[in-house]
Amino acid sequence: MKLCSTIFYSLIFLCSLLSYILFKKEKRRHKSRARLPPGSMGWPCIGETLQMYTQDPNVFFASKQKRYGDIFKTHVLGYPCVMLASPEAARFVLVSHAHLFKPTYPKSKEKLIGPSALFFHTGNYHACMRKLVQTSFSPEVTRKLIPDIERLAVSCLESWANGQVINTFLAMKKFAFEVGVLSIFGQLNKKYTDELKENYSILEKGYNCFPLKLPGTAYHKSLMARKRLNQILGEIVRERMENKLSANNLLGHLLNFRDEKGNILSEEQIADNIIGVLFAAQDTTASVLTWILKYLNGNPKLLDAVKGEQKAILESECGENRSLTWAMTRKMPLTYRVILESLRKASVISFTFREAAEDVEYEGYLIPKGWKVMPLFRNIHHNPEFFAEPGNFDPFRFENPPKPYTYMPFGSGQHACPGNELAKLEMLILLHHMLTKYRWELVGSANLIQYSPFPIPENGLRARFKKEI
Ligand code: HEM
Ligand SMILES: *[C@@H]1O[C@H](CO)[C@@H](O)[C@H](O)[C@H]1NC(C)=O
Ligand SMILES: *[C@@H]1O[C@H](CO)[C@@H](O)[C@H](O)[C@H]1NC(C)=O
Repeated sequence: MKLCSTIFYSLIFLCSLLSYILFKKEKRRHKSRARLPPGSMGWPCIGETLQMYTQDPNVFFASKQKRYGDIFKTHVLGYPCVMLASPEAARFVLVSHAHLFKPTYPKSKEKLIGPSALFFHTGNYHACMRKLVQTSFSPEVTRKLIPDIERLAVSCLESWANGQVINTFLAMKKFAFEVGVLSIFGQLNKKYTDELKENYSILEKGYNCFPLKLPGTAYHKSLMARKRLNQILGEIVRERMENKLSANNLLGHLLNFRDEKGNILSEEQIADNIIGVLFAAQDTTASVLTWILKYLNGNPKLLDAVKGEQKAILESECGENRSLTWAMTRKMPLTYRVILESLRKASVISFTFREAAEDVEYEGYLIPKGWKVMPLFRNIHHNPEFFAEPGNFDPFRFENPPKPYTYMPFGSGQHACPGNELAKLEMLILLHHMLTKYRWELVGSANLIQYSPFPIPENGLRARFKKEI
């Protein structure tokens, strides 16, 4: 014990010394008159990481904003950073001066997803990949998927309503994964789908673990699963190329891509972008769907009104098949606003990271080169100046559109979410079937928030589904 604490204090001492020296150097480098934003950097090395993780992160960010204002500095996860909680600052970083900031992720995570995935990139490669992803998930393409998404929704709901208590978040993940696979590959046979699902679930278990590459660790297993995913994707690609299927889905577009010199994408670039999209699509959509259930459950009057809207749509269609059409999904204003309000209230992507590519001056403050910059979406979404009584769940507030840059559940600018239309469409389709044919009750308490790392209700929201008709 004694030795441990001696080592601990010596380390802290060394770190302090080091950061003192570095800090002096840093000071000399910046000749500009701008000063660093207010804020506290916490302990040497670890900074305020512990506070951010032991306190409710929302409380951490909100109390900082209260104390220092909309721009403040801190030190988390080993990096000095500037946090920004105003719409203007978010616009500056993500849109108007986006060229001064680059996306940044830990190398260990980049390796798991695949370094060629579009969200790690800027410039020409990013623009090309982004265009391709946007085309693949545009409303013109995704509207053709409605019957298939509907089939998936119906079969998921059927399997949940077997009298057993389910973990809503895990159930929603299954749905979001299947929709992801559908929109990436079109129809994919069961063997490949299962292999992808099994290996992907091993991959994601290592994503938030310590990146230790020793056999037996979750991170190592995760890397091995990533390799197997490459094999599976390779097989699928070879099959599609042999059959010369030029399909209007993401894989089809990746295979048909030619740059200005006529070069095609490498197998690795194709695989990394596919895994990247699956990763971006699954937990985000699943956690929002889970929150929607929780919010509706806490507002019985609203739940009745939303059910009314969905039942009216069901009954407006004569005939037996009653499949949803694109036009029908555009006639769900209340359900749509429930989705928008859930995206605001839950703010599942509470913030994002960028890195200053050079010294940047903003509002008289200096953001030094290499510092992380974090636009805080959640703080903006919960600012009473933009959303009155932000703690209330009130879909009707979206009868008036929010002010520019006050509502960014899908981010903004060059890296804004290209999957947002698909995400909203699949949520509408699932909700349509859930609200017209099922009842659900929550089991146990669900008042705490769990971070997975996205916020979700405690225990993934345990619930029991029953078929009504
Ligand atoms: C409700 C569900 C979703 C939410 C809340 C969400 C949110 C976001 C946000 C905030 C970003 C921007 C991150 C940043 O600027 O650093 C983003 C990027 C991205 N999202 Fe989504 N997303 C969702 C669903 C999806 C789906 C279904 C797909 C795919 C079909 C998808 C694919 C992507 C991709 C590929 C990027 C990276 C874009 C780029 O870097 O250019 N997302 N998402
Ligand atoms: C993962 O993928 C491989 C093919 O590369 C497959 O044989 C295996 O069944 C999949 N699932 C698991 C859990 O490894
Ligand atoms: C309903 O579905 C069946 C089988 O899928 C099909 O044969 C029939 O034409 C459909 N009816 C309508 C009114 O669309």
